[in-house]
This record gives sequence, structure tokens and C-alpha cells, in this order.
Amino acid sequence: MSTENLVGIAEVAEIAKVSKQAVTNWRIRYDDFPRPVQTLQSGPVWERETVVTWVKNFQGQATHVLSFINLKGGVGKTTTAVGVAEILAQEERKQVLLVDLDPQTNATVTLISEEQWAERDKSGRTIAQLFADKLNSHEQPKFDLEQSIIRRVSTINDGIARLDLLPSSIRLIDLQDRIPMIALSGNFTANPLDILKSVLQPVMDRYDYVIIDCPPSLGTVTKNGLRISTGYIIPTIPDIVSTWGIYQIVDNVHRFSQDIDRPLPALGIVATKVQPNNLHRRVIEDLKARRLGHFGEAGALPQPPVFQSTISQTVAVARGADVDADIRTFKGKYGNAYAELRHLTQEIKQICEKKKP
Ligand SMILES: Nc1ncnc2c1ncn2[C@@H]1O[C@H](COP(=O)(O)OP(=O)(O)OP(=O)(O)O)[C@@H](O)[C@H]1O
Ligand SMILES: [Mg+2]
Repeated sequence: MSTENLVGIAEVAEIAKVSKQAVTNWRIRYDDFPRPVQTLQSGPVWERETVVTWVKNFQGQATHVLSFINLKGGVGKTTTAVGVAEILAQEERKQVLLVDLDPQTNATVTLISEEQWAERDKSGRTIAQLFADKLNSHEQPKFDLEQSIIRRVSTINDGIARLDLLPSSIRLIDLQDRIPMIALSGNFTANPLDILKSVLQPVMDRYDYVIIDCPPSLGTVTKNGLRISTGYIIPTIPDIVSTWGIYQIVDNVHRFSQDIDRPLPALGIVATKVQPNNLHRRVIEDLKARRLGHFGEAGALPQPPVFQSTISQTVAVARGADVDADIRTFKGKYGNAYAELRHLTQEIKQICEKKKP
């Protein structure tokens, strides 16, 4: 760790615009105040990024960065991430950036037209170009963040004023397996897990929320999302097969969070595509009672909480991609799931914006 990233009490006070005494009080009062990485003769020192995140969070100005993750495909990650992002921007009047990390580009093409996507993809204005640049480090980098962020996206209201999108591309499929080996391509300076962070950090302050739609894996691309996340959400269909891998996700993310030395809490599990049958009802009950398998075993991690809100399987969502569907209103796009998504968004907001006592 380089020493320029380390800060002492005086600098923490300066960052937070409070007295040194206030910082000392926070250390005593709040258990979650970051632990110093070292104690020098001049006093304790912290890693700047960790302290800045804590201070911003404490002062209620943090950018909440939430990854939607499940190893299983088709469980409603994208639908939930996009719905929550749209509601945060339109109804909660938050500044929101949706980052599509999935080469399937589902979030991208529900928020912009295919024509618009094709044009951007051709000119390298997608997340794939960002990773391609790192793999082709001998060439001039082409990715330009400001050019790549699309403003006012969504079919709702013909565009939601506070909702921005960093789109994905199917080109990412060919790149993603090579990203862990960027050093082999001659690029020794870029850490494969810090690629997204390095470009997003300068614009992060513009947003209240960054919502990351991840592919159904925990590969390097998803880890790039987790690297900048302040928490993650696990959408799952409430059936045996879909909930099977949840322990693995929590365990993996926990280990990753230890590697990068930052907290990465699971905000919660959300039941999606819920149908009114006994199996779904029973699995939801088990989830809410924290009886999900593996978690209860000796030495195992605790099960993450479960959101009260559940998202029903609805015709409106299923036919969302249908060009004839009226997807310019929340009600048309999500049908009965709209009220549920709204409720879920409230719960997420409450967790994120909880003020310290
Ligand atoms: N609440 C719902 N009601 C009906 N259909 C839904 C609902 N949620 C998602 N779907 C449909 O299920 C399919 C998968 O949903 P979605 O793309 O959100 O899942 P995903 O977990 O992101 O999938 P992937 O792993 O492929 O990225 C889509 O066709 C979507 O329209
Ligand atoms: Mg998806």
C-alpha cells in the first residue's frame, strides 16, 4: 500500500470538515469506524478511500453503489435492478446511474432502443471498450466516459430526467475471459479488478445511487462491480433450485470483501417472479425465518436478511419487450409488480439512508 493513500486524524478531520476531537469521538462512539491500518509515532493512519466512504456515509452524502447479483440466470436481476433504478430517479428524485455489466445487454436494451445501442456499440461507446482498452494497452485508449454515459434513459415518460446509463455490449463476451490476464497482454499497470473503479471514481459524486446489473457469474467483470459497491442485493425466484447457490454467493462476496479490505454487506434477498403456489409460499417463509440451507451450519456465515417486498410474476413484465406494450408508464411496464417494486425501492432507500443516532 502506498503511503500517499494514508491519512491521519488531522486529515480525516479536514475531509469531514470537523474538529480533530470530533473524529476522536466518532472512533469511540461508532464501532464501524474504520480500523487504522497502522499506528505510527504520530498517531493512527487509515486508508483514505475507506475513511472517505465512512465519512460520506455518516454525513448522509454517500453514493450508494448496489450490485444485483445471483449466479443463476433468469431470476429477475435485470428486471429488478432496472425497475429500482427507474423508481429511484423518477419518484424519489435521486440522481441514478445504471451500469450494465452483462454482455447480454438486457438492461441496456430495455432502457434505450436497439438502434441507439447499435450506433453506440459501433463507435466504442460501451463498457466493452473500457475493458478492450486495457487488453490493447499498446494502442491509444478509445473509451471516453462522458461520451459513453447516456442521459435521460428509459421508455417511461420517453426518458427519465435523472436516470443515466453506462451501456454494455455483446463484445464483452469475447473479452471477459481475458480480463484477469491483462498483465500478460503487456499491461502491468492496470489491476484487472479496478478497471471500472478507475473510470467511475471521478464522476461518482454526481450520483446518489449507482445500480449495477451483473451477469450471472462471479467472474472478473462482476468483481469490478463489487469493487466499487457499498452493498449488494440478491434477487431469487423462491424455489429450491434458485436459492441453492445463495450461500456460495454470500461466501464468495465475503471473501472478496476481506481481500479488498472493505465491508460489502448483503442488503438483502428479494423474492422475484413469485407465483401464488405452495412451493413459493413455503420457500419465502423459510427465507424470512432465516432457515436457508448451509447458513445454519456450524461455523457458517449468517443468512442475509430478506426484503419484506416480493415481486410477483406478472404478464406486464413478461411482455415488456413486446413493441406493442405500452411501456411509457410504470403501470404499463410493470403492471401489478409496479407497487411491489416501489415498496422494495423504499426498503432499499431506508437501509441505505439510515441516519446514525
Ligand atoms: N416479475 C416478473 N414477472 C414476469 N416475468 C418476469 C418477471 N421478472 C422477470 N421476468 C422475465 O424473466 C426473464 C428473466 O428476467 P431477467 O432478465 O430480469 O433475469 P436475470 O436474472 O437478469 O437474467 P440473466 O441471468 O439472464 O441476466 C425475462 O424474460 C423477464 O422478462
Ligand atoms: Mg440480467
